[in-house]
This record gives sequence, C-alpha cells and structure tokens, in this order.
Amino acid sequence: MTKILSVEDLHVRFKTYGGEVQAVRGVTFDLYKGETLAIVGESGCGKSVTSQSIMRLIPTPPGRIHQGKIFFNNKDLTRVSEKEMRAIRGVDISMIFQDPMTALNPTLTIGSQMIEGICHHKNISKQAAREKSLQMLKLVGIPNPEIRMKQYPHEFSGGMRQRIVIAMALVCEPHILIADEPTTALDVTIQAQILDLFKEIQSRTNVSIILITHDLGVVASVADRVVVMYGGKIVEEGTCRDIFYHPQHPYTKGLLYSVPRLDSIGEELTPIPGTPPDLFSPPIGCAFAARCPHSMIVCEKIQPLKTTINEQHYVDCWLMDKRAKG
Ligand SMILES: Nc1ncnc2c1ncn2[C@@H]1O[C@H](COP(=O)(O)OP(=O)(O)O)[C@@H](O)[C@H]1O
Ligand code: SF4
Ligand SMILES: [Mg+2]
Repeated sequence: MTKILSVEDLHVRFKTYGGEVQAVRGVTFDLYKGETLAIVGESGCGKSVTSQSIMRLIPTPPGRIHQGKIFFNNKDLTRVSEKEMRAIRGVDISMIFQDPMTALNPTLTIGSQMIEGICHHKNISKQAAREKSLQMLKLVGIPNPEIRMKQYPHEFSGGMRQRIVIAMALVCEPHILIADEPTTALDVTIQAQILDLFKEIQSRTNVSIILITHDLGVVASVADRVVVMYGGKIVEEGTCRDIFYHPQHPYTKGLLYSVPRLDSIGEELTPIPGTPPDLFSPPIGCAFAARCPHSMIVCEKIQPLKTTINEQHYVDCWLMDKRAKG
C-alpha cells in the first residue's frame, strides 16, 4: 500500500472569550492510495477541525495549528505558502461538505460554475472544460447532463445537488477527496445511493477518500479503515472488520451499541451516558474516564498510550496495556 498523506501529532487550538479550546490534541494517522478512511466520533470531537487542517482552512484567528505536521507529496502542508496551498486545494485535495448549497452558487447554472471551477485551476479551453464537466456529471449519475448543465442549483433535489458537488470536487482529478458528513442532510435512501457512488467513483479513479461522519452506520458499507476520535484524540484505529467485530476501546463499543445494526433487529439501543470532556481544560488522564464503565485509578491520572492489537489495529486504553498492570 502506498502512503499518500500522513498527519503527525496534530494539535489545533482556538482562542475564544472563554479561553483556549484544544480542539485537536495529538492526532496521527496515514491515508493510503485508493482507500476509504472513515473518521468517526460524536459531534465536537475534532473531526472537522482535523480535515480543515489538512486543507489549511482553519479560520486564523481564532484558530491555529499549534503543533504537528501534515505530509503530502513530500511537503509539510502546515508550512507551505498560501500560494502553494491554493494550487493544492481543489486540484490535489478536494473537500465536500454536509450542505451542498454552501458549495454551489445559486445565481449561476451548474455548467457555468463547473467550467469556471476547472478553468480557474487548469489551463484548458472552455470547450475542454465543458467536455470534462459533462463527463463528471455522467460519472456521478446525473441523467441528461447536457440539459441539466443549463439549470440552476434550486432546480435539483438535495441528493442530486450533492452529486453535483461531488462532480465538482472530482473534476480536477484530485488524489484525495475529503467528505465531511456528506450524507447527514440526506434521507436514508439517498444516503445509501451517495455512499454507493463513492465506492463506484473510487473503483474508477482510485482516489483516496477521507469520510467524516458521526454515524458509525454509514461507515460499515464504505470504509476500508476507521479511526475513532474522542475529545480531540484518536482512541482506536483499525480495519472496518476490526472496529465492527473486535472493538477494543470502551468508547468504540459504546458507539456500536448506540447504532442500529442489521443483524441485531429488535435489540435495544443504548446511548452512551454522559457528555464529552470540556476541551477548554481537557482531563489529565483518559478523556473518556468520566463516562467509562471500566475506569481505573490510572485512567484518571495518566493518558493511555497506543497499544498494538495487530499491525493495523491500535487502541489507546489502559485496559489493553500491559504497562497498567503489575
Ligand atoms: N471557529 C471555531 N472557534 C472556536 N471553537 C471552534 C471553532 N471550530 C471548532 N471549534 C471547536 O473545536 C472542537 C471540535 O470541533 P469540530 O472539529 O467541528 O467537531 P466535529 O466535526 O467532530 O463535530 C469543538 O469543541 C468546537 O467547538
Ligand atoms: S483508559 Fe481507562 S477510562 Fe479510558 S477507556 Fe480505557 S479503561 Fe476506560
Ligand atoms: Mg464536523
């Protein structure tokens, strides 16, 4: 497997009137070519801030990358110039968001905004950009693309708008596509269609996808690997199979029990009791200790370290760590 992106010990903070929020607190992960990596966790755990850091879209001020490196193409994205970053955004790394309307200009036709988007990044003729746009709209399953290109965003349904946004994100053939809650605003049937679309696009283009979601149910059908975030940190990382069938972290187990599963129809869902940690003054020890049914004295005093379960499966929990015993 070829590594395409490496996030190393990323820390992101925001200055607010109430103090400094430690939104991301030492996140490390790799992304490989052609894979779908899901980042999951409850709202506020730092998923969006992590992805905005990769795109260098953290609003500064109030935010800043306090520490860490993000390697792409042998460059540390936390250090490249804004000009270089502009050349990377949308071309090498593209991003799509939950609400497709935020990415679309309501006053322009789909065709003109797609063509404009391509010509902005690539030195090609309008005709070539038009051809490329048509090709992409076909790829994402927009029927009658020649006619649809002349229409405005409001003339499309929510699901179709998200397909258009995906087409726009892919039009420059990026190596990485970051999708931040891309299906959260859509109803369940459309959600499934969009997730299928990601898989199909990936099999055709070999793009690497970072799929961000608070919904573990979304992950099962599309992700190859999963990282689970809690309180600004990664608490578990593994293949989809590891996370769904052999979860090790009490938080991951809690998340699994709080989503409906096809094979457990009729079983009661149990939400995780309690609330996430205060990121203005994060706990000294394990961030999950206050909600964890297995919490030990060591958990409140010292942060758990990464323990290897197998070469792709890691967990940060004292329960799995031989160093906590003896
Ligand atoms: N612009 C901002 N100003 C202040 N705090 C922010 C800002 N953006 C995010 N945060 C804080 O960073 C933390 C992580 O947020 P986020 O990454 O958006 O969470 P998620 O995407 O996992 O729901 C939250 O506590 C949030 O309040
Ligand atoms: S380190 Fe301790 S508190 Fe944290 S998840 Fe593991 S057992 Fe629970
Ligand atoms: Mg978010």
